[in-house]
Amino acid sequence: MQLTRFLLSLAVSHIAGAVPAPDLDLQNLLKVPAGHPAGLFQQTVIGPEPPFSPGHRDPYDHKVDSVGDGIQPLPFRNGDGTTVMGPRNPDRERQNPDIVRPPSTDHGSMPNMRWSFADSHIRIEEGGWTRQTTIRELPTSRQLAGVNMRLDSGVIRELHWHTEAEWAYVLAGKVRVTALDTEGGSFMDDLEEGDLWYFPAGHPHSLQGLGENGTEFLLIFDDGHFSEESTFVLTDWLAHTPKAVLAENFGMSPQKFDNIPSSERYIFQGSKPGSIEHEKPRTFKKSKINFTHHMLAQEPVQTSGGLVRITDSTNFPISKTVAAAHLEIAPGALREMHWHPNADEWTYYKKGRARVTIFAAEGNARTFDFVAGDVGIIPRNMGHFVENLSDDEPLEILEIFRADRFQDFSLFQWLGSTPRRMIADNIFPDDPKAAEEFLKKIEGAEKDPIKDTI
Ligand SMILES: *[C@@H]1O[C@H](CO)[C@@H](O)[C@H](O)[C@H]1NC(C)=O
Ligand SMILES: *[C@@H]1O[C@H](CO)[C@@H](O)[C@H](O)[C@H]1NC(C)=O
Ligand SMILES: *[C@@H]1O[C@H](CO)[C@@H](O)[C@H](O)[C@H]1NC(C)=O
Repeated sequence: MQLTRFLLSLAVSHIAGAVPAPDLDLQNLLKVPAGHPAGLFQQTVIGPEPPFSPGHRDPYDHKVDSVGDGIQPLPFRNGDGTTVMGPRNPDRERQNPDIVRPPSTDHGSMPNMRWSFADSHIRIEEGGWTRQTTIRELPTSRQLAGVNMRLDSGVIRELHWHTEAEWAYVLAGKVRVTALDTEGGSFMDDLEEGDLWYFPAGHPHSLQGLGENGTEFLLIFDDGHFSEESTFVLTDWLAHTPKAVLAENFGMSPQKFDNIPSSERYIFQGSKPGSIEHEKPRTFKKSKINFTHHMLAQEPVQTSGGLVRITDSTNFPISKTVAAAHLEIAPGALREMHWHPNADEWTYYKKGRARVTIFAAEGNARTFDFVAGDVGIIPRNMGHFVENLSDDEPLEILEIFRADRFQDFSLFQWLGSTPRRMIADNIFPDDPKAAEEFLKKIEGAEKDPIKDTI
């Protein structure tokens, strides 16, 4: 209580600009750069001092919401470490409290597993833009590549196809998709936030922003080497085909092609689309395949700490190479300790802030923090959890896999289904009292993807 009051007075005096003078220069240690209002220190602080100061002790490595609380992380841990004297990037440090001060359980030299779309080059085109996170931006993004694209009202991502299959999640607005299947069946659908599409490799398609503000979506390709720059684009092909051949192919005179675009259009302002009914070609032959799916409209699985929706080829049959889970993690909840046996996880952070520790065997573990718009990689089989790091924002994430089925193993469930003697011998050889309590906790354990920890 006293500590809370001390922290509050520190925060308030900082806002007021009055500097208290404890023997440590705490004001400077916890300095929040201009333009970043100091929040209230709400998290549990173990030990007598604020979380990033020399006297702070936390043998249990509790999370600290440095963004929400407006605190500047510093590399002090349980009596070790010191201040930073050189140049700093305060915003990035605050977004990565567990990089600046890793939990004492981190060890080894695991490669980087985090990338922010904010660091991706943006290709700007007429009425839209696109940016990507592939193996080039994030070397651990081997199985999947992601693209974040925005198309304003009526703006078209032109007719094209590619070597990889494409899965997409609509983040905002409305979009029209068109596609053709290998039997000559056509497909058109209008989608909005929380809807998916999947186009198998090589299937030609187009996208157009609808409504007042068009759309923004996340595209996933089933190869980390994919590049949004190297798709097969209609106008690019026509521009690089002799006009005499265009004439033969379409049964028109070559002069009729004099004014076609001389290079790819890629993203451009199109004319206003009518309704699907109105726009269907007269000879429209409806595809037997459903290339779209309403993920957010699915009945969620209720867990003790949030909602889970899983979409894979069992409920979205065309999606043979991409499986996904949408998670809403409620206050104080934890995406439980688990791993995925069949594919690397490509995580997209849609809302909130999170802390994730990845366990890589041989004593290796590394912790990463994520904010909205970030991408995380968790290699196949590596144990991990997702902890809500924010004190006030909900956490919403997509776990995406190059697989036809979503699969995970819950540590809790596994231990609950293992002989009790085995568990006690493994974890609590010298502490029968703790063993007894633990065995009670895991009795009859079921998978609980998001756990209420309150
Ligand atoms: C479109 O964007 C404008 C400006 O951001 C906003 O005021 C408006 O509410 C948006 N319209 C819709 C339908 O989302
Ligand atoms: C595709 O399936 C969804 C159900 O997930 C349905 O709502 C939608 O109407 C179908 N679309 C077409 C074009 O068949
Ligand atoms: C996140 O966790 C903290 C601490 O457990 C809790 O106070 C907060 O309400 C949580 N927020 C959300 C939105 O999950």
